[in-house]
Amino acid sequence: MSGNRTFTMIKPDAVENGHIGGILEQVTASGFKIVAMKLTHMTTRDAEKFYAVHSERPFFGELVEFMTRGPIVAAILEKENAVEDFRTLIGATNPEDAAEGTIRKKYATSIGENAVHGSDSDENAQIEGAFHFAGREQF
Ligand code: PPS
Repeated sequence: MSGNRTFTMIKPDAVENGHIGGILEQVTASGFKIVAMKLTHMTTRDAEKFYAVHSERPFFGELVEFMTRGPIVAAILEKENAVEDFRTLIGATNPEDAAEGTIRKKYATSIGENAVHGSDSDENAQIEGAFHFAGREQF
């Protein structure tokens, strides 16, 4: 994956609440091209591995339980300056701090159930995309 790509997940809360369409519409209207996408359901082992960097944080168990309680939409997105622009589009981790109009401001309900994930670096975008998609799905 190049520096113009990022990885996202529409999290179980947003899927449960029927927001897949609204979120994807805002993402594509903001100039992101979907280069890979699927509805999937992470196992506990998947979530523990995906979020391993946060394993020492007090909310780790809660995060793993939340991310495995229902299906998610995983996607690789392409746009110039993708990682930074996508983080701006989704807003702050805590929806209370998120700017008006951002995806988390509109769809997140709490810091734990915050509707979407966005990679925080080009390196992590590559790692996270490869976690969910085979090489042939990432063209
Ligand atoms: S970030 O985006 O990495 O800067 O945010 P960070 O605050 O470090 O949080 C990392 C991920 O943990 C989730 N999170 C939480 N889950 C449950 N409870 C609490 N209190 C909590 N705080 C943070 C947060 O949504 C991040 O998940 P991702 O999937 O990376 O957005």
